[in-house]
Amino acid sequence: MSVRIDIDRLSARIAALGRIGALPGGGCKRLALSPEDAEGRALVTGWFRDLGLELHSDQFGNTWAIRPGRGGTTAAPVLMGSHIDTVATGGLYDGALGVLAGIEVIEAVSEAGIETERPLAVAFFTNEEGARFQPDMMGSGVATGALDLAAMLAQPGIDGMTVGEALSRIGAAGPEPAGALRPSCYLELHIEQGPVLERAGRAIGAVTGVQGISWSEFTIEGAAAHAGTTPMDMRRDAGVVAAGIVAEARAIARDFGPPQVATVGRLQFAPDIVNVVPERAQLTVDLRNTDDATLRAAEARLAERARALAEAEGCTLTQRSLARFAPVGFDPDLVEEIAQAAAGAGLSGCKMPSGAGHDAQMFAPLCPTAMIFVPSQGGVSHNIREYTSPAQILPGVQLLAQVALARAGHRQDRT
Ligand code: GLV
Ligand code: MN
Ligand code: MN
Repeated sequence: MSVRIDIDRLSARIAALGRIGALPGGGCKRLALSPEDAEGRALVTGWFRDLGLELHSDQFGNTWAIRPGRGGTTAAPVLMGSHIDTVATGGLYDGALGVLAGIEVIEAVSEAGIETERPLAVAFFTNEEGARFQPDMMGSGVATGALDLAAMLAQPGIDGMTVGEALSRIGAAGPEPAGALRPSCYLELHIEQGPVLERAGRAIGAVTGVQGISWSEFTIEGAAAHAGTTPMDMRRDAGVVAAGIVAEARAIARDFGPPQVATVGRLQFAPDIVNVVPERAQLTVDLRNTDDATLRAAEARLAERARALAEAEGCTLTQRSLARFAPVGFDPDLVEEIAQAAAGAGLSGCKMPSGAGHDAQMFAPLCPTAMIFVPSQGGVSHNIREYTSPAQILPGVQLLAQVALARAGHRQDRT
């Protein structure tokens, strides 16, 4: 028996979710646990309900819906999912695709009248992006036990509100304990968010794992002073130290070479006045590498150089870790199954690591886990111009359906 993926229905859901928190030039902003996120949660949960699925949500706002297998909903489900929060300059596809594709697979399976051995489930996880509250992958980290529930609830956001306060403000916390979701396997369809597939002319990425991620925040304290009257040798300029750290992050990426990447995404000066030497600067550095030892070497070099820069300027420096995830490998059998299924469907595919963080990496230690990538046009993501066409999405959803059904104990001819 085969299932028919309705790409128009999926595209309509992507567009409808994208209208929540829509930005003027396109894209959307649904920061985790914001009023827009609450609206997005309500829309998606309504779709879960429309399909007659069994609804669940845990105390961290992670939400999932189950379609029963032959024995009901108690056996560990084959889980599909991702996130529906976005960065402040988000597109319509990052995260949303994995969740809405999971809904589409379940709807298509039901339409085909298929009964599976294991239940099928679809989930969205709280605060995958880490844009408002750090670290990223927070909800899936709490769900899998990798992150401590109490510590994450107490985590303050960039606006000062804690995760716990934000959860209760939008009423997103559910009745079930963190850890209630225990899938038999986890599959996440996602846009690549980079240029590799497009450049290689490939339709599908069978994702082998996710690179290590290290986020740090540096705070530098110097002394405010008059920009015209203070001799250069009498300054303790926090801004100059921050600028040195920015340059060092780029130098580390250059010296280590690919796959090392380094990004300063936030930088603030105080008092932030044209004719005042900055007394305080705060910045974040995002370092990533597929090799943990190299990532540790990059972290060590950055910390040492930041310390030396601050000392030379007579400033104090504090460094705080915002996120640290080691590189993760996905289940080789499941990755191979995806690659084989792609080849069997006549799709051009390749095995590749992920440059972005994903909820799947938190599930990898718990159960067989893998991801399917579809191309991102221009390699653009975390940007309102993020785009993957329906024709590019369709084969990814068909593969997701095929592999999910196989893992749930049902083999189909073709989607
Ligand atoms: C999270 O999505 C990240 O890769 O920054
Ligand atoms: Mn994502
Ligand atoms: Mn993202």
